[in-house]
Amino acid sequence: MKNPFKFGTIVEDEFFTDRISELRYIEQKLNSENHIILISPRRFGKSSLVMKAVKSSARPFIMLNLQKVVSVQDLASNLLKEVFKLYPWEKIKHLTTHFRIIPTISTNPMGDGVDVMFQPSTNGVVALEDAMKTIERVSTPEKRMIVILDEFQEIISIGKGLDKQLRAIMQLQHNINYVLLGSQESMMTEIFERKKSPFYHFGTLMRLKKIPYDDFHAYITERLEPVLVGQSESVANEILAITKCHPYYTQQLSSQVWELAHYEGVKDSVVEMAVERLSDIHDLDFERLWVGFNKVDRKVFKTLCAGIVNLSSSGLPTSTTYSAIKRLMQKGFVIKEDTYEIEDPFFKRWIIKNQL
Ligand SMILES: Nc1ncnc2c1ncn2[C@@H]1O[C@H](COP(=O)(O)OP(=O)(O)O)[C@@H](O)[C@H]1O
Ligand SMILES: [Mg+2]
Repeated sequence: MKNPFKFGTIVEDEFFTDRISELRYIEQKLNSENHIILISPRRFGKSSLVMKAVKSSARPFIMLNLQKVVSVQDLASNLLKEVFKLYPWEKIKHLTTHFRIIPTISTNPMGDGVDVMFQPSTNGVVALEDAMKTIERVSTPEKRMIVILDEFQEIISIGKGLDKQLRAIMQLQHNINYVLLGSQESMMTEIFERKKSPFYHFGTLMRLKKIPYDDFHAYITERLEPVLVGQSESVANEILAITKCHPYYTQQLSSQVWELAHYEGVKDSVVEMAVERLSDIHDLDFERLWVGFNKVDRKVFKTLCAGIVNLSSSGLPTSTTYSAIKRLMQKGFVIKEDTYEIEDPFFKRWIIKNQL
């Protein structure tokens, strides 16, 4: 029997659950001239959701994570590289006759397509315009290209004025749907909701939530029942009480529970044991993280651990608390759904065990 839970990578097929209305919505948007902006904290399932929608459209797509991009020129070469993965060079050579700067294109010995290199002195913006033009050229009205840019908020730090330049290029393009993903809520909101931003109201903005309780409960129960006969429903409740329906952590904890039950025959307190294992595995990382936090951050974590939602009762001045929260949210350690919560339930456990 194979572990029926999966975490860490894009999930599809039997590992993917719910998101029915979100999928339908994205599919509709892709079927129009509109673009999509999808925001959620990391590991909520943005990539998985978008991949599912895009694959079901059977259209050509490229996906690039802007966290991997270091400069405008690098953005141009990465985009081209993705295009060359889809279409062999021989086939689209004629579409690159417009290139003002010719990159060096070489086959990659690792076998994942080709490498695209520009001279270090290349004007990045010109290279980017050429690359974006190529994407438009390979896209046809029948097979419109979908371009997914992950961690899009990075656009601000890749190059000065890049947002404006990119928007100006996109403005003139046809037959492309852009799907822009981001996990930094405040930066993404700045980019797409601030009137003066070049990307103001660029597309339909969606905020992805966690997976609904009932759906996740059914998903877990069904998969745990074979190894925890008669117990799976209550175990699923216990799991969700800890992970609060966070997609990644729910799959991670369920996976650990399944392993304990299947390989070690654990039945009693299996969730407790799984949490313990996961917190222990990360003990060193958590320790390092903790050392890196300042006093205010620590106080915020402790307050959140104690389940105090009203942060002004932490004993710190409100403004100090909120700027700490804001910083911790930007780094992804704290997320806000209905209330503020520590993103990682196992880190929370670790704090309770070691620091309170
Ligand atoms: N629809 C889903 N059903 C079940 N698990 C999911 C779903 N979406 C995400 N997950 C879980 O969350 C993890 C992170 O998903 P991912 O799509 O990479 O998120 P993001 O792109 O937002 O960081 C997956 O590896 C999986 O364990
Ligand atoms: Mg992702």
